[in-house]
Amino acid sequence: MKVPINDLHLQHASIQAELEAALAQVTADCSFILGPQVLAFERAFAAYCGVGHCVGVSNGTDALKLALRAAGVGRGDEVITTPHTFAATIEAICELGARPVLADIEDRHFTIDPAQVAELITPRTRALLPVHIYGHPADMDPLLGLAQRHGLALIEDAAQAQGARYKGRPAGSLGLAGCFSFYPGKNLGAYGDAGGITTHSGELAARLRLLRNHGQDPGKKFFYQEPGYNHRMDGFQGAVLGVKLPHLEGWNQRRRQLAEHYRQGLQGLAELILPTEAEYAHHVYHLYVVRARDREGLAAALRQGGIDTAVQYPHPLHLTTAYQSLGYRKGALPRCEQACAQILSLPIFPELEEAQVDYVTQQIRRYYGG
Ligand SMILES: Cc1ncc(COP(=O)(O)O)c(C=O)c1O
Repeated sequence: MKVPINDLHLQHASIQAELEAALAQVTADCSFILGPQVLAFERAFAAYCGVGHCVGVSNGTDALKLALRAAGVGRGDEVITTPHTFAATIEAICELGARPVLADIEDRHFTIDPAQVAELITPRTRALLPVHIYGHPADMDPLLGLAQRHGLALIEDAAQAQGARYKGRPAGSLGLAGCFSFYPGKNLGAYGDAGGITTHSGELAARLRLLRNHGQDPGKKFFYQEPGYNHRMDGFQGAVLGVKLPHLEGWNQRRRQLAEHYRQGLQGLAELILPTEAEYAHHVYHLYVVRARDREGLAAALRQGGIDTAVQYPHPLHLTTAYQSLGYRKGALPRCEQACAQILSLPIFPELEEAQVDYVTQQIRRYYGG
């Protein structure tokens, strides 16, 4: 049996007619950049996240950069974040001339450890940037408390967490701003690069709209309030996201069912640690990540059996060449480093079938002789 790690064709087939009509409308309107489809999606996504505003942008990396900049982060500032993330989180901080300060993760959910964050705050700290990694929210209350006590901006990297909730509150609604990626393979994915920033603040949203469009005054064409960027969302992506958003809750629910099916199939295996959901969390399983004894051997055996797996991510960011200048040595962030050596992502996507999950769990049991 073949089990891919994801299969976007299946999702496309399930909404093809609706999508084609929406894309044809963009063509008919010639609304290729921003425009009515983007605006409609921004409104719908803001409502979905329980905030007043969403600003559609070019991708999740630019969402982070814009949100940090609008929060006042600049040269010489420190931003405390996690090493256990996709590179974009750290890249966005560096891009602004600020310094990423890395707090290790807590073991169970791979999210930033608030106790370590507390120890790293200095007079130069400007913002906290937790990541809701794999679709599981970071433990936000202690982080929000720290942000409030020290006058810091709290920005959520919610790139992998569309629809996740913390104590019932949506990811992207908890801090000053929430940054989303709509990269095609995300729980809510566009048909190209796209991203969004959510916020309760009308003032921040207005600044973000300005910055994403070269700093151009919305009421005065070719008059610039401040130097900005071309970080706009395009009309086709707005249309695709608008069609997909009403399906997101159902798709996330399906991911949760599949995660439960994995749990039932794999429980009791001493060689694996399965993902869990904190009592505060509504996990949306962007990825289903286990810790495995002899990860490479298991991945090879599964590949032989037609099952794709992935490692997200194999190299602790602070030990990669790009970020050596941050000065972290091997052993500096041991929980992240250990996680990177053990983690394995098993296939999960809404169209995956129970029979495929059963096959994966059987193959894993066979490998471990259990
Ligand atoms: C945690 C995290 N942050 C930021 C990003 C960047 O998003 P994009 O690829 O849309 O620029 C990603 C994308 O994979 C991500 O997973």
